[in-house]
Amino acid sequence: MIPVITIDGPTASGKGTVAARVAQKLGFHYLDSGALYRLCAYKALKEEIDLADEAHLAKTAQALSPVFEGGKIFLDEEDVTDKIRAEAVGVAASKVAALPRVREALLDVQKRSRRLPGLVADGRDMGSVIFPDAPLKVFLTASAQARAQRRFNQLKEKGIVANIDTLTRDLEERDRRDMQRAVSPLAPAKDAKILDSSNLTIEETVGQVLQWYEALAD
Ligand code: C5P
Repeated sequence: MIPVITIDGPTASGKGTVAARVAQKLGFHYLDSGALYRLCAYKALKEEIDLADEAHLAKTAQALSPVFEGGKIFLDEEDVTDKIRAEAVGVAASKVAALPRVREALLDVQKRSRRLPGLVADGRDMGSVIFPDAPLKVFLTASAQARAQRRFNQLKEKGIVANIDTLTRDLEERDRRDMQRAVSPLAPAKDAKILDSSNLTIEETVGQVLQWYEALAD
């Protein structure tokens, strides 16, 4: 059985950073499932596909062939690493992610990323839908305020000026859409461990996940 650690949670909870570090510490592969939805949304925006045209978007998702290389993401030979992180792409991603046929089109590519020696998968439904048999499932949360502050700092580092109230509102709206959709809504798997990182550093959060994982072997 190839081990999988799933890390799910709302936007800007720090999942991505924590999952990537846990993967690095364990020498495991890392699946950033949100990037797949972002890539689909990026392509849809670029090609001006109607974000409600489920059949067209499912076809787009099915045909995606991104290349993940050295921390960069290429789509049709274009470096989209930073472009898919734009807020507009995140918002569009949460719209296309609500479409069942888009989710279905991305099932295989996610399941195939489970390879030896192991996988750390980050997203919304990694523990509940994609890898229900994962031995360790973490649901990482943080208050909307803490998450907006983190997003604000990230943007500031990139030289982008943002408004914290707008960011908080966007986060809450995205959470609502992710939690209320009919398919694979954002919710902890029944057997997930809940980790609130509002008052934890990244190192402390990574440490807790690793401790839980090591405890499985005891
Ligand atoms: O995690 P990230 O912010 O990159 O994800 C972008 C969007 O993709 C989320 O708001 C969510 O709607 C969607 N998503 C999803 N299922 C996943 C990962 C992401 O629905 N497993």
